[in-house]
Amino acid sequence: MLTLADVSKSYGPRTLFEDVSVFIKREDRLGLVGPNGAGKTTLFNVIIGDESVDSGTITWEKGASFGYLPQETAPAGDETVLDLATAITPEFAELRDQLRIIESGGSPACMQGEFDAHHRFEELGGYGIETRARIILAGLGFGAADFNRPARTFSGGWVMRAHLARLLVREPALLLLDEPTNHLDLEVLLWFQDYLSRYPGGLIIISHDRAFLNTLCTGILELRDQTLYRWTGDYDDFLRQKEAHREQQLSVRKNQQREIAHLQRFVDRFGAKASLASRAKSKEKQIERLKEVAIDAPEEDIRRISFRFPQPPRPGLRVVALKGVRQAYGENVVYRNLSFHAERGERLVLVGPNGAGKSTLLKILAGAIPIQAGTRELGGNVTAGYFAQNRLDNLDARRTVMEEAMEMRNTNPDVTERLARTVLGGFLFRKDDVFKRVSVLSGGEKSRLALARLLLAPPNLLLMDEPTTHLDIPSIDALVNALRQYQGTLIFISHDVHFIRSVAKGVLHVAAGHLTPYAGNYDYFLEKSRATGAREALTARLAGERPHHAATTPPRRPAEAARGGPKTKEQKRAEAEGRASRSAPLRAIRAHVSALEQAIAGLEARQAEITAQLEAPETYSHPGIAQGLNRELSTVVDQLQAASADWERSAAKLEGLEGAQA
Ligand SMILES: Nc1ncnc2c1ncn2[C@@H]1O[C@H](COP(=O)(O)OP(=O)(O)OP(=O)(O)O)[C@@H](O)[C@H]1O
Ligand SMILES: [Mg+2]
Repeated sequence: MLTLADVSKSYGPRTLFEDVSVFIKREDRLGLVGPNGAGKTTLFNVIIGDESVDSGTITWEKGASFGYLPQETAPAGDETVLDLATAITPEFAELRDQLRIIESGGSPACMQGEFDAHHRFEELGGYGIETRARIILAGLGFGAADFNRPARTFSGGWVMRAHLARLLVREPALLLLDEPTNHLDLEVLLWFQDYLSRYPGGLIIISHDRAFLNTLCTGILELRDQTLYRWTGDYDDFLRQKEAHREQQLSVRKNQQREIAHLQRFVDRFGAKASLASRAKSKEKQIERLKEVAIDAPEEDIRRISFRFPQPPRPGLRVVALKGVRQAYGENVVYRNLSFHAERGERLVLVGPNGAGKSTLLKILAGAIPIQAGTRELGGNVTAGYFAQNRLDNLDARRTVMEEAMEMRNTNPDVTERLARTVLGGFLFRKDDVFKRVSVLSGGEKSRLALARLLLAPPNLLLMDEPTTHLDIPSIDALVNALRQYQGTLIFISHDVHFIRSVAKGVLHVAAGHLTPYAGNYDYFLEKSRATGAREALTARLAGERPHHAATTPPRRPAEAARGGPKTKEQKRAEAEGRASRSAPLRAIRAHVSALEQAIAGLEARQAEITAQLEAPETYSHPGIAQGLNRELSTVVDQLQAASADWERSAAKLEGLEGAQA
């Protein structure tokens, strides 16, 4: 349905991807993964034609339609949520509006015009579309009362949901979704996942959510090192294959290094001898060739950076206290008579069912919403800071990363350029990245910048709502590293079990307007709450944890597999050598040397072939293929070494004989 052929894209000196080719079939359900800033969003933009390519072609099959959900913002105007969700095409939206005027007594141009409009409207799906839209909107968490509210009165996350509804109603042949789960809570996420699993078209989904990708995908596209790799299976399969691939690469690399060392020994030994100098030269060339194809040592996946972050001023013991707080949204009373306090240095995670009021509690504590009754008191010397997943708007698009960081000097006079660089580095901004403008940052980069700013001038009461949204694993680790050092009071909400385990020291369970504290870590809470059954709702999804500590397959020992062969060959060769020296020594040995040279060339060619196959992701889609190849590779390398050793001996002998004749 869609073909990308040798597509390349750079921004200035930075290449995002080079000569990327991929073929997408109608029934493909693919996850697109890769680190923050790898170019995933850009790849989508290139596919849908919003960004130009530097070279290469993108071809859509005739009549193929696509729908695209952007990562961050989607427009919303005066139209109602239901209108937005049913605006499947401009034509459909226009007909709908036209018919609405007619129904409300407005006159059509003529009877025929009215008939045509009706007819065409029905052809495009008619009122069935609206019914579908209602079902989908409800699934995505909209209440019936929301349907007729103007879209612009909703927060960004809800506008995204309305756009998502529109895409699902339209049902294009290929859905391109950029981190669609960022805006969804657990309940809705499960509905959405289920809906997509029955989606009749193709899917490409950018996501860092392992459980989500596992449920939906039959293949993974991995954007890494400017290349797009295609893997078969779900996300776990991908991790397994990738690990196997890494192991193989390591052993291929070992073989290559072994051979380079071997050739080098020859060059060192014979390079100075006039009669063998040309052969030594050719060996040198061979070394060079080998070094060219040699595989680099695989990079450590997780960049470990430990920086010291600034600490907030030390407050009194009691940091914040709520008394008799009441909070309601219309009829829906979230808290009736709530009391709570937090102390210096506490690190609490808020857990509990969706809609229980976790975000509301955080906002109340932050003073981000006015309370309707009761009191909120901050302790002496306390400043509260609030971080919400979609609160990136206070970044100024025109400024650079560095300028944004330096702005924190207004809050914390200790911020120097050096400190700013250090903390930005702690959030994985490399040297040149700090001169990028905010307008070009990827979703993850923006989140990292917002976090870096927060921690440059840390408040001593830090309230965070889903801070890991948009972040890839190394970035989450960077945040964990920062928060572990943080000595203020931290209260946060997260769906990420690994993150919770790494950061929280206490748990506050929020349900039905009541708070239950657990003075232990997350596992203690799970243990304690198991009896109450509260855990069920909580862990349903969390069962599939993050890909953090993927099970590693035990390393293979390629050399073990290939015993037995070489010895008999050695015997044969010894016999051959003996025969040659007895009969026509010079001729025979010349023939032998040249036969060895041919054999070596053949073995080297095969070695190159196997290496190439071991680098191709397809090799890992069937268990056993890689092992077979690796066994053969090991045999080939052994044979190569034997042949080269023989060649060395024979060449030296030949040199002696030729010298004696001369
Ligand atoms: N117009 C532009 N000019 C210069 N650099 C850009 C531009 N647009 C994007 N970039 C850079 O290209 C890189 C890739 O961005 P992209 O948004 O495609 O990443 P991503 O893989 O979607 O990351 P994330 O997971 O954080 O969303 C980023 O480093 C970004 O800063
Ligand atoms: Mg992106």
